[in-house]
This record gives sequence, C-alpha cells and structure tokens, in this order.
Amino acid sequence: MKALVTYYSQTGNTEQIARAIYEGLPIDKELKPIKDLENADGYDIVFCGFPVQVHSVPGKAQPFIKSLGEGQKVAFFSTHGALRGGQLPKQAFENAIGLASKAKVIGHFGCRGKVDPRIIELLMKKQENQAWAEEAQSAAGHPDAADLSDAKEFALRMLKII
Ligand SMILES: Cc1cc2nc3c(=O)[nH]c(=O)nc-3n(C[C@H](O)[C@H](O)[C@H](O)COP(=O)(O)O)c2cc1C
Repeated sequence: MKALVTYYSQTGNTEQIARAIYEGLPIDKELKPIKDLENADGYDIVFCGFPVQVHSVPGKAQPFIKSLGEGQKVAFFSTHGALRGGQLPKQAFENAIGLASKAKVIGHFGCRGKVDPRIIELLMKKQENQAWAEEAQSAAGHPDAADLSDAKEFALRMLKII
C-alpha cells in the first residue's frame, strides 16, 4: 500500500502538518508539494492539505484536487486561523469535497495555524475577513506539539478506514 502526502502551504503551517502526517504513516509513502504533482495516479491513499483562505480552498491547491480520479481515496487536512471545530473552517472542507467530485473523501482534519499580526491587521479591513481574522489573533503558537500529535493520529485512523 502506498500513500501520498501533498500540500500547499503559503507560510509553512500546513507543511508542518503534512510532515507530521508523513512521519506518522507506517507504510510506503511520499511527501510532495502540490505544485510538483500532475495527478495522484498509483497511490492507494492521498492526504491533501491546504491553508483555509477566505473561507475556502486556495486557488493554487484547486487544480490538483479537481484532478483526483474516480474513486481515489483522499483525506483532507488544513490549517486555519479560526477556532478549531467552527463553521468557517468546515465550509472550506465542504468546498474541497465539492472540488474532488470523482474522488472518495474518507475524512478530514483541521487545526489552527498562526497568522502574522501585521497580516491580520491588513486583512481585517475587508468585511469578508473579519469573522476569522478576529479569532486568528489567538492562533499564535499553532500548530503546536498537540496539533502535530493529533495529525499523526488522524493519519493512522484514515489508514484503518481503507
Ligand atoms: C490571505 C489569507 C486568507 C486567510 N483566510 C482565512 C480564513 O478564511 N479562515 C481562517 O480561519 N484563516 C484564514 N487565514 C489564516 C490561514 O489559514 C492560517 O494562517 C494558515 O495556518 C496558513 O497556513 P500556511 O502557513 O500553510 O500557509 C488566511 C490567511 C491569509 C494569509
């Protein structure tokens, strides 16, 4: 069985989660940035990660997600500034599931990721960012050791499903 762990990460938070998932997988595996891939052919499971941006999947992660083939098993992961378990990050996962219309989505994992306070200040000026940007102020220090450990557990749980 072979796993692919792939990710888009603008500032490194999602990459940290990708590396934790990769390390936690006890099977044949590869870790690749999403920009280095054309498709996911030949993998039994794909872990695909992205940062939530403006409540959705960043444009740079979308072509790969759309390219996932018929029945391809995929588990999504993301980092976001907003609180864990909230409605806003959930919306981004729903968007990802919509983009992976042919694939079989087996689960998703999300945790918080820090945002530079200067960026928060800039983004807050736009109405569409206010809800998450306010919450993001307390995301400093994430992903932390507990997030990385949760990501590893998630990876093992996904393997048990397939
Ligand atoms: C342009 C921009 C838009 C963002 N939009 C959201 C958002 O809608 N919801 C949210 O919770 N966090 C949002 N964030 C915060 C990022 O999702 C968070 O910092 C994430 O951990 C960044 O991951 P990365 O380091 O892998 O790029 C945004 C950040 C940026 C820079």
